[in-house]
Parts: sequence; C-alpha cells; structure tokens
Amino acid sequence: MDYKIFRGKFKICKNITWDQVIDKIYYEYATKTIRFIGNDDSKVRPPTFVCENYNYLPNTIQDAWDEVHAVYENINTMHVYTSFGLDAATAGRHRDTMDVMIVQAVGDMVYAFDTDCLDKKDEVILKPGDALYIPKGVHHEPLGIGPRISLSFDFK
Ligand SMILES: [Fe+2]
Repeated sequence: MDYKIFRGKFKICKNITWDQVIDKIYYEYATKTIRFIGNDDSKVRPPTFVCENYNYLPNTIQDAWDEVHAVYENINTMHVYTSFGLDAATAGRHRDTMDVMIVQAVGDMVYAFDTDCLDKKDEVILKPGDALYIPKGVHHEPLGIGPRISLSFDFK
C-alpha cells in the first residue's frame, strides 16, 4: 500500500496560531508531557517540539481536532509537531507501527519516501491544509524546511 496526498483538505487547521501553540508548549513543559527532538549541538539543527496532552487544547487547536474528527471519526490521537527553522531535527527516516495521517497547519514540510531506486526519493511538499496518509510500515523521512506546525493523527 502506498501513501496518499489530499491537497487543501482541511481549511480550519490552517487557523492554528503560533501564540496558542507556544501556550500549549508552555503547558506541556509544566505537565511534563512534552517530547523534544533535538541535537546535542542545537546550533546545527533547530529543535522540534511534540505536544501530546489532550487536557489542554487552546481553541484553534481544538477547532483543528474537530475539523479532522468530523471527516475521520476513528482518529484516536493528535500530536502537534512544531519546528522553528530550516533542517529542523525530526524523527529521521522511520516507519510507524500504525497508519498515520499528517495534516499540515502552518508552514511547509517535506516528506521523503523510498523508491525502487536506492538513491532516489519521492519528495512530497505539504502546504497548509494538505493531508498526507502514510500506511503502517511505509518508510518516510520528515524534512523541515522552515518554521512549521504539523498535526499527526493515528486511528482507533
Ligand atoms: Fe512517522
């Protein structure tokens, strides 16, 4: 099974604000629920923050959940990925143990997929409002190209 792109599928998700994401990051440090992806040398690659706590969803983030949930009732979790620059630290090339859907909220993001040719990758540029469905087991590599807010969903 292959990945699928849905261009411009979620318009309300684009309304997520930096203010409210920073507020959520602040909250998740207080509750120790934040996940941080970074390098030992933070001058090399900007960090990425992953928010995973549902007890606090500022309203533009709640609205994003509601918009996606109205289409996909079986979404289970929503993680908010925030990076602050070019070549931000990410999970690197990996595959997930469940189907995942990425919804791009703010900024652009590239996802690279393996092809039959070893040294060639398929690169998908996600724009705000786009959704990318990645079936479990499919290798992919997130590549940060600037400040961004992305939502990652899995399914029940
Ligand atoms: Fe992934």
